[in-house]
Amino acid sequence: MRLLTLSTSFLSSASLAWAQYSVYQPQYQVIYNGLSTSVTTTATAASATYSGSAAYDTTVLSAPAVPNPAPATSFGIQLYSGGMTGLSIPQNGGFFGFSIEMSVVNHVLGSNSSVLQVPFLNLMANIQQRVGWVQVRVGGNTQESAVLVATLANNSIISKDYSAVSGTTNTPPLDYTPEVFYMMGNISALTNVRWYLGVPFFNTTPFDLSIVSSGQAILGDYLLAFQAGNEPDLYTDHGDHRVEGYSPYDYYGEIDDLITQAGSDSAILKTDDVWIVPSVASGDWTPEVVWDTGIVGNFSDHLNALAVEHYPTDNCAAQFNTGGTIINPQDVFPDYLNHTSGQAIVAPYINTANTIAQPAGKPFIMFETNTASCGGFAGVSNSFGAALWALDYAMTMAYSNFTGALFHAGGQNAYYNPFTPPPTNQSSFKQWSVGATYYSALVMAEVLGPSNASQLIDLGANDNNIYTPGYAIYENGTPTKLALFNYITDSSGASDYTATVAIGGSGAGQDNATPSSVRVKYLRSSSVADIQDFTWAGQTFGASLGSDGRLAGDLDVQTVNCDTSSNTCQIKVPAPSFALVFLTDDAYSSVTPTATETFPTTVFTKTVNTLSIDMSVLETSNGHVDMEDVEAATSAGSSGAERTRGSIVGMGVVGTVAVAVAGWIFMGAAGRL
Ligand SMILES: *[C@@H]1O[C@H](CO)[C@@H](O)[C@H](O)[C@H]1NC(C)=O
Ligand SMILES: *[C@@H]1O[C@H](CO)[C@@H](O)[C@H](O)[C@H]1NC(C)=O
Ligand SMILES: *[C@@H]1O[C@H](CO)[C@@H](O)[C@H](O)[C@H]1NC(C)=O
Ligand SMILES: *[C@@H]1O[C@H](CO)[C@@H](O)[C@H](O)[C@H]1NC(C)=O
Ligand SMILES: *[C@@H]1O[C@H](CO)[C@@H](O)[C@H](O)[C@H]1NC(C)=O
Ligand SMILES: *[C@@H]1O[C@H](CO)[C@@H](O)[C@H](O)[C@H]1NC(C)=O
Ligand SMILES: *[C@@H]1O[C@H](CO)[C@@H](O)[C@H](O)[C@H]1NC(C)=O
Ligand SMILES: *[C@@H]1O[C@H](CO)[C@@H](O)[C@H](O)[C@H]1NC(C)=O
Repeated sequence: MRLLTLSTSFLSSASLAWAQYSVYQPQYQVIYNGLSTSVTTTATAASATYSGSAAYDTTVLSAPAVPNPAPATSFGIQLYSGGMTGLSIPQNGGFFGFSIEMSVVNHVLGSNSSVLQVPFLNLMANIQQRVGWVQVRVGGNTQESAVLVATLANNSIISKDYSAVSGTTNTPPLDYTPEVFYMMGNISALTNVRWYLGVPFFNTTPFDLSIVSSGQAILGDYLLAFQAGNEPDLYTDHGDHRVEGYSPYDYYGEIDDLITQAGSDSAILKTDDVWIVPSVASGDWTPEVVWDTGIVGNFSDHLNALAVEHYPTDNCAAQFNTGGTIINPQDVFPDYLNHTSGQAIVAPYINTANTIAQPAGKPFIMFETNTASCGGFAGVSNSFGAALWALDYAMTMAYSNFTGALFHAGGQNAYYNPFTPPPTNQSSFKQWSVGATYYSALVMAEVLGPSNASQLIDLGANDNNIYTPGYAIYENGTPTKLALFNYITDSSGASDYTATVAIGGSGAGQDNATPSSVRVKYLRSSSVADIQDFTWAGQTFGASLGSDGRLAGDLDVQTVNCDTSSNTCQIKVPAPSFALVFLTDDAYSSVTPTATETFPTTVFTKTVNTLSIDMSVLETSNGHVDMEDVEAATSAGSSGAERTRGSIVGMGVVGTVAVAVAGWIFMGAAGRL
């Protein structure tokens, strides 16, 4: 029997005070009360408050009016047995992943390898349940000057040295210990997260490769690859990291040096298939000018993947007072509410996807993205519209042969976070906030499913109307799902549309293959401007500061009977919503965890600091907790019921409680980190 730790105080000595949740960032980046590049002072950002922090901002914008002319509200979609011309390459179910700034892993992931954030585990487990794994990048600008040290004062795993903020970069040296990797490894053991890390690239003579040797040794197969340079095209803009004139050929030379140095470092276990290049941002270098150096062919064996980073716009003028026009969020809201947005972002990369990455046999990843850099926009980035936008954009990336996309999680000063822990001084009574882009991630997992065989096609639905895009998903030649968007907000019902779907039976050699019925899950909210309580198939992560990372509510899936005389199925798509139509039973069951809503909740009550937990979870854990152990034991009493695979229990509805199971402490959302 292991201990149950009920005290709130033992966790309160976390070495990083709330104020240190601030991180200096180079310009045009994300943000924890960050300062502009021109500021060279040490941290002065005020502690964020609940009411004042972007991540909990309650601004609700106005939904755009119904467009004129309005899209047709009835149109046909024909799918074919055997496939269609123009399908994407087969996509991995884990396509939609996350990017987490390195400096905040001790807030988002856990305190150390034995105190993990339960809401984070649940959020990862939701995706693992559907597609088997999750890809997460730990990095960002703070990786560039990070230093791995053996230990830090007070058993901290991360420490930011604000007194040593250098030059004009505002990037404080970040010290961290190998405990960060052990923590990541333990998260992986529970939820099959696989990680990307980044080599510090500000100092290249020589490189500090301790992150490579330690990361590989500790994380093993849970470590996917290392980013070699983060937005190198912005290195000269960010201050003094490279001299003016730094070019793609200079970058090529640094990658050459990196490969040479790693090759002669006996502590590095693996040197093939490990580096990700070039991660250029929207700035001065197109991907093509980097490819022109010969970097892909010349270093092919050493490269794991090719990557770019992109935000469609920025909110830096407002966030950092960097000058320039301050953008009114209401003005840009419509830019996120149509299919053109994702298409326009992806267009410059299609050449790379098809003529560079595919022929080289390399993955091509959108390594960091979201609605707008410098934290996004109030009322836009956290809106239901943004959930539709990120899902449509992700599907366009998949259709256009990207192989993955990582949506960035900023801190308390970002509007666009897929998930945000509560402010530290409120962590004893608040829970996490699950944002718009997390819904997109969850739905994308269901869109692709676990087969790694899903091929997407943009159907140009409804005569290419930009407000009603649609995609089909084929697996091994069979159409298995249909994905339909309605970006319009109109509570009258007049802008709801009905797609009439047929499979086969039209065209040479096509027998009718329309099923007798299909199932439909909806991503819904009453308006694109809503900022919380969205539902996916009836279930929700609720309001800001209200989630433990598990879906709540009853699963609501519509069954649509098809017309067997016309061999068509009529799918209604309300304004606004997204509909995922499952054309086969297997497509549905492979991404629909059963009995999710019956999963028992362990309730902790802060006031009396008592908790109720099935002791058998502790007894069966046997020093070796895995998901099955946790769920089996905590599901006692629901015998025979098929359990939610992968959910982590131990989360309180309220209260600050950490539950130790066989040496693990799962920290609830309410836990103080
Ligand atoms: C892990 O973090 C918890 C909470 O901050 C702390 O109580 C514990 O001592 C830490 N463990 C180690 C090994 O530092
Ligand atoms: C949290 O800290 C902020 C900043 O110091 C303060 O304004 C706020 O009132 C605090 N909230 C609570 C609940 O203590
Ligand atoms: C360690 O913790 C003590 C007590 O909370 C604090 O005074 C001290 O500043 C901490 N040291 C560091 C380096 O964080
Ligand atoms: C989990 O953390 C412990 C240290 O607390 C470490 O010994 C163990 O190797 C970690 N597990 C993984 C899979 O990294
Ligand atoms: C890269 O390879 C090409 C041949 O594919 C070669 O012409 C070029 O010189 C190489 N680039 C460098 C910088 O070595
Ligand atoms: C659609 O989105 C694009 C790209 O964001 C934007 O430029 C355009 O103005 C939008 N169209 C309408 C009609 O709002
Ligand atoms: C994606 O790659 C496939 C296979 O090479 C190709 O047929 C298809 O046209 C590409 N898609 C796009 C949008 O370029
Ligand atoms: C899909 O890909 C993931 C990650 O690469 C892998 O773990 C999983 O086994 C694959 N699933 C199938 C069905 O191939």
